[in-house]
Amino acid sequence: PQQTNGDSGVPRLVVVSNRVAIPDPTGKGSAGGLAVALKEAFEAHRGLWFGWSGKVAAQPSTTPRIVDKGNVQYALMDLTPLDRQEYYNGFANRALWPIMHYRIGLSEFSRADYAGYLRVNRSFASALAGMIQPDDLIWVHDYHLIPLAAELRALGVTNRIGYFHHIPWPAPEVLGTLPGSQDLLRDITEYNLVGVQTDLDADNLRRGLVQEVGAIQRKGDLVELGEKQIRVKGFPIGIDVNSFQQAAKRSSTNRLVRQTVAGLGSRRLIIGIDRLDYSKGIPERMESFERFLIGNPDQRGQVTYLQVTPVSRSEVPEYATLSRVVNETLGRINGSLGEPGWVPIHYVNSTYPRPVLAGLNRLARVGLVTPMRDGMNLVAKEYVAAQDPEDPGMLVLSKFAGAAQQMTDALIVNPNDKIEVAEAIRDALYMGREERVARWERMMATITQCDIASWTASFLKDLSGGRSPGAGRILR
Ligand code: G6P
Repeated sequence: PQQTNGDSGVPRLVVVSNRVAIPDPTGKGSAGGLAVALKEAFEAHRGLWFGWSGKVAAQPSTTPRIVDKGNVQYALMDLTPLDRQEYYNGFANRALWPIMHYRIGLSEFSRADYAGYLRVNRSFASALAGMIQPDDLIWVHDYHLIPLAAELRALGVTNRIGYFHHIPWPAPEVLGTLPGSQDLLRDITEYNLVGVQTDLDADNLRRGLVQEVGAIQRKGDLVELGEKQIRVKGFPIGIDVNSFQQAAKRSSTNRLVRQTVAGLGSRRLIIGIDRLDYSKGIPERMESFERFLIGNPDQRGQVTYLQVTPVSRSEVPEYATLSRVVNETLGRINGSLGEPGWVPIHYVNSTYPRPVLAGLNRLARVGLVTPMRDGMNLVAKEYVAAQDPEDPGMLVLSKFAGAAQQMTDALIVNPNDKIEVAEAIRDALYMGREERVARWERMMATITQCDIASWTASFLKDLSGGRSPGAGRILR
């Protein structure tokens, strides 16, 4: 049965994202970032979460499969193999993703993929439109679904629709190299509110709207195109600091964490945790670590670098290439610098539950978060949240992660300069306790202030027209 807004006066929240996270019935699973972000909002609002089921079927869904859980209804669409290829692997991950991460040379555009991207957005919109009620607040997530609002508007949906872009938004000169990018910018103007991670991203997007599609920049965040008014604003995403910190504390009893402690002996741990993605700078980071070992021979056998890297998007050729490059780099470094009793870099492709990752983070004396470009990078925030306040480890953070705008007490590096990163690793390892504590306290204060609950609340407040959506009925 379809949920109604009832008499509570609180509008229903409709979330649309490519991936949908249905809660694990055992309660043991590890909720992804967006699921954590939306938990409280769904509790206050009742909700509908619409998106791809993650499944591929011979026939595309025309109506979603509905799963009811508590006060949230999940509406899941299957994709055909061609949809998956053109929409997900193709346009979203092979053309848009690299461009959004400033990697023009890696972007592979194809008209067929772009048509598939538009086709899936259209079919999602037509399945969703019939489920929309007049007071619903609609919140669309990420680059897979940029044209969704335009498709919903074409079907007569007049609700307030917000979009949050989880990855970087590049300068118009970069985005402009992608065929179809002007249409994407026009599609953006069908949203009432567009959130990005940083002020730089917001600036880039507003500039793109002005330069490429003739929008007019009004005061502050406001951009106008004809009759349409769009707010484009930075909403830096956060984490659930408290729960990650608690998980890290409790994790000392976890089997895998205990094994890691035993395996380390007196060695100090350096950690990197990233999906296998070229935006994360994994081979570059391994080579920086190699530089560090070459420049600091006394540290050989004294440190272990653990890189935890679940495989990602392996059907996309550039990801398969990256996998080979990482394996070669790793093999070369371990072969040339390792010793019978010591492997410099431990590389694992497993996906660990969040409590295990929290525990591993807490063990690590240095956290390496050195993406070539990243929207925010929540791993950086998780590393800080997991530390022991009495003796915290130190974060080495790329200046090209959105997180660097907020966590200025990390050791900020340019990941393209391997010597600079190697020096930062050394500085992090040698930094005195007092300085580590002082820097950690300031970073903790920042990530606590900008946590996940405040991110969700501030976006929804702006989307609902400036009033706290929980506080009363929203006037459209
Ligand atoms: C990034 C994107 C998400 C995406 C995630 C994992 O964080 O912003 O939208 O879900 O990567 O990628 P995948 O392709 O596995 O969904």
